[in-house]
Amino acid sequence: MAEIKMPLEPFRIKVVEPIRPVTRREREALLKQAGYNVFSIPADKVYIDLLTDSGTTAMSDDQWAGLMTGDESYAGARNYFHLEKSVQSIFGFTHVIPTHQGRAAERVLFGSVLKKGDIVPNNIHFDTTRANVEFLGARAENLVLPEAYDPVSDRPFKGDMDPDKLKKCVESKGAKRIPLVLMTVTNNSGGGQPVSLRNIKEVSGVCAHYGIPLFFDACRYAENAYFIKKREKGHDKKTVLEIAQEMFSYADGATMSGKKDALVNIGGFVTLDDDGLAEKIKNLLIISEGFPTYGGLAGRDLEAMARGLNEALDETYLEHRTAQVAYLGGLLDQAGVPVFKPFGGHAIYILADRFLPHIPRGKYPGWALTVSLYREYGIRAVEIGGVMFGSKAGQGNKEIYPELEMVRLAIPRRVYTASHLQYVAEAIIELHKNRDKVRGLRIVRESPFLRHFTARLEEV
Ligand code: F0G
Repeated sequence: MAEIKMPLEPFRIKVVEPIRPVTRREREALLKQAGYNVFSIPADKVYIDLLTDSGTTAMSDDQWAGLMTGDESYAGARNYFHLEKSVQSIFGFTHVIPTHQGRAAERVLFGSVLKKGDIVPNNIHFDTTRANVEFLGARAENLVLPEAYDPVSDRPFKGDMDPDKLKKCVESKGAKRIPLVLMTVTNNSGGGQPVSLRNIKEVSGVCAHYGIPLFFDACRYAENAYFIKKREKGHDKKTVLEIAQEMFSYADGATMSGKKDALVNIGGFVTLDDDGLAEKIKNLLIISEGFPTYGGLAGRDLEAMARGLNEALDETYLEHRTAQVAYLGGLLDQAGVPVFKPFGGHAIYILADRFLPHIPRGKYPGWALTVSLYREYGIRAVEIGGVMFGSKAGQGNKEIYPELEMVRLAIPRRVYTASHLQYVAEAIIELHKNRDKVRGLRIVRESPFLRHFTARLEEV
């Protein structure tokens, strides 16, 4: 068997945060209290937290130094102009409108363009994106290629949108009902898979043909650009910055959650060229997020984001980041744990229905796996399957499940070392050997939107 190379951390540790394991008995009691929902477990009762890569980043010394230069003026803080400069130099759009995080950027953008009955195509909508679209009475359509749902196809850009599906969607619904097309990079809900430049160009061409603006959901743009450099022919000599600039040159704007590839704990923005739309967005922003030069953030947060955006394009950082994810994936794969391939940019996705074939979809195998991972090993992961994306839209209120039933092990940026990941791999491999003991669950309470955050379940 090929040896899996341990990724060497391109940083040394200056500040530490202790983590302590709690006993299995305590974890059992906590699960019961939490309604078997790991979102409701206090974080200091988690040993290794792979719930999300969002906002969980360790900032650099330079970013921490930047916090001290925060200008907390209500209007026109100097840090806003630093952020504006960073965003413009990478994204290339004129307007930079800060928000407190990605979903707030979605809300002010969609709130300014969507009407009831509109359609928003995407490769695959992330859950908050879908919820923000649906909240306005519009419909969210996923238009990826069929391979996106094939967890073993080795296609290097499974995040690509199907341009023919997009054309058909526009032809059948009419361009007037589609105020924008979105492209999520990387495609989080489809295994963290990148989108190729070729596809971006093609989709941009379709959008231009019908006069529909194209926006990026750009959370993980740096990871996507790095994959283009590594996997797409003809781009290996370019810098990741040049590739990112080229990606954005085919679009009309972007929403961004800074909590991913801007390497911050809080922050986001919308960026675009259209003056009229920017004005509408700012008007909406003022009601909920704040004045347009701070958008729900402190001056110091703007500074950390301005610096983090550039750090995320550092190729040594990106090389380690993707190697870390591939390291965990490789260890699991080699031991026969079913995982989504190829490995994406920010997480490893376990194929939960194959991991737990004795648990039917209606008893939520992905959720069951998250419960067992916490109970047995203190590891927190997130289900991306029937509880997150299931809906009672079938005949007679029958539940319909998404194509894939997965558990995501998201790797926070610059937080865990190779030995932490080794622990995670060993734990999952052991659980896989004892998988027959894992039980399914049923939902006892749920909310109408984004039910996974607050649902309560019990084991059956
Ligand atoms: N779009 C994508 C593709 C995301 O992954 C997220 C967040 C958002 C938008 C919303 O950004 O959290 O700053 O409001 N994803 C996190 C995750 C929560 O765990 O994948 P936000």
